[in-house]
Order: sequence, then structure tokens, then C-alpha cells
Amino acid sequence: MSEAVFTDAGIGESADAQARSGTKTRRVTVITGASGGIGADLARVFARHGHDLALIARSRAALEALAGEIAAPGGPRPLLLVVDLLERGAIPQIAAELEAAGASPEILVNNAGFGLIGPAASLDPGEQLAIVDLNIRAVVEMTLYFLPAIRAAHGKILNVASVAAYFPGGPGMAAYYASKSFILSFSLALSQELRPHGVTVSALCPGYTKTGFQARAGFGPNLDLARLPSTTAMQVAEAGYAGLIVGRREVVPGFLNKLSVLLLPFLPKAVVLAVISRLQQNRAPLR
Ligand SMILES: NC(=O)c1ccc[n+]([C@@H]2O[C@H](COP(=O)([O-])OP(=O)(O)OC[C@H]3O[C@@H](n4cnc5c(N)ncnc54)[C@H](OP(=O)(O)O)[C@@H]3O)[C@@H](O)[C@H]2O)c1
Repeated sequence: MSEAVFTDAGIGESADAQARSGTKTRRVTVITGASGGIGADLARVFARHGHDLALIARSRAALEALAGEIAAPGGPRPLLLVVDLLERGAIPQIAAELEAAGASPEILVNNAGFGLIGPAASLDPGEQLAIVDLNIRAVVEMTLYFLPAIRAAHGKILNVASVAAYFPGGPGMAAYYASKSFILSFSLALSQELRPHGVTVSALCPGYTKTGFQARAGFGPNLDLARLPSTTAMQVAEAGYAGLIVGRREVVPGFLNKLSVLLLPFLPKAVVLAVISRLQQNRAPLR
């Protein structure tokens, strides 16, 4: 079973959050994958704007360091949940632990995710299924679990997809691209369903951003990543936060990413698939 750990100092001490909600409930922004990369910067941005946080990831030390950094200026110390979202029962456990701490999600940020580079036939099948489990199943399960509370709070959902979501497919990262297309489609559908209930749903679609993502995906050394146009995790987090707050359905940070998303529907699928295939071959480890 996953291990859920709350920081003692954080529980029940957020006067601001309680005043906002008008009850004893601690209204929190729940962020998955907050131990590094885009998720950690999303946590910093939400905290800077006064949100009370519940942070989820597997790396306890990284979460504790981030919680200390966020609490240092005097804000509420985030709740921490050291959880592997791939474990069976992880999400009901998160829901139970939040309830036990008197916390209720007002905003949900589904950010945790990973990809793998290589042809589907060569990659480990179990690892590819883990992409589906983390990038899709956990996002849907988190959303469905917390939707009643978010609806009651007229809250918001931010799902981290990718510019990959707009491509017809991602040869060389097939399961990853497909998982992000799912997230974009799921988010757009929910945004329509939930808007009349006062809930906004936004899909954040970053392009290449230097984080732990590239090492986890197995990017090789034969592409000079430093020369590729990129956004920083903080730029992505700030764009995501701004888009979420105004209720934008799709948020694509960076001019070149926006341009790609605009042009893609006009390009022949065969050409796009061939270009992506070539790009991923260049990124793959040297064999
Ligand atoms: N970086 C890019 O170029 C890029 C581009 C487009 C979209 N994205 C998307 O942005 C999101 C964040 O990625 P990132 O770039 O910030 O990558 P990252 O630096 O590798 O961060 C991934 C986060 O997910 C957490 N995580 C991974 N597996 C988990 C699990 N089983 N259970 C709980 N948490 C887990 C990691 O924490 P622990 O290891 O501590 O669990 C970490 O906090 C992902 O959805 C990714 O697909 C990234």
C-alpha cells in the first residue's frame, strides 16, 4: 500500500484557507508529481498566489524540501503525500488521508506523467502499460474521485497534457503521444460538461521543457538538446496557472509551440508522422 504522510505542522493551521471557505475545512490545491520539474514549479506558483497545497509524489526528501521552501515566507506548510500513483488503491488512500486531515480539494492539478523513447515493439510492455496507468488511468481516477468536492467548491482542474496531444501519432514515443491525446480529449469534454456547474477544466500543453522527463524517457546523447527551442518549467507553470485562473480550455506555452498547434491540422498526416519518426530516432539512445 502506498504511504501517505502528512506534515504535522500543516494540518488545521491555515487560517486563510479556513476563512476563505468559511468552514473548518482546509481547501487545498492537490498537485501530483510535485517533487520536481513542472509540478514543483506549479507548486511554487500556486503557493505564491496564496493557495494552500497538498503535494503528491514518491520522493519524500524532495517533497519535504519543497514544503520547507514554500512555508519559509510564512505561508501554510503544504500537506505531503508520499504516494506511488501506480500502486493499486493509491487514489482511494489519498482521498481517505485528505479527509482524515480535514482537507478538501478545491483545485486538482494532474501533472505526474512520463514517457519512453523507442519503437513500441522494442520497449518493455510493462513499462508502456505503466505510461497508460500513470498518464491516463491515474488522471481519470483522481478526477472522478475528487469531482464531487471540486464541484461543491466551484473549483478548477488543470491536466498536464503536451503539444504531443495535437499530433496524429508519435512514432518512437507511441504510448506517450497517445496518452497525451487522451488527456486533451478528456479535458475538453469535461470542460464542456462541468462549465454549467461552475467548474473549469484546462489542459496545459507544454513543448520541450528541460526537466527529469528526458532522462526518465531515455533520451540519448546523440541530440544536442541544448540547441532545441525550449521553455523552462517555471514558464510552463506560470502559463498554466494564468490559463487555469481565467478558465482557458487549452494552454500552450511558448510561441513556437502555439505556432505548431495552429499549423498541424493543415499538414498531411503522413508527412507529420515521418517527421516525428525521424526526430525520435535522433533522440533515441545510440545503439
Ligand atoms: N518536460 C517536457 O518536455 C514535457 C513536455 C510536455 C509535457 N510534459 C508533461 O509534464 C508533466 C510533468 O513532467 P516533468 O517534465 O516535470 O517531468 P519530471 O521532472 O520527470 O517530473 C515528473 C513528476 O511525476 C512524479 N511521478 C512519476 N511517477 C510517479 C508515480 N508513479 N507516482 C507519483 N508520482 C510520480 C515524479 O515524482 P517522483 O519520481 O518523486 O514520484 C515527478 O514529480 C508530465 O505529465 C509530462 O508528460 C513534459
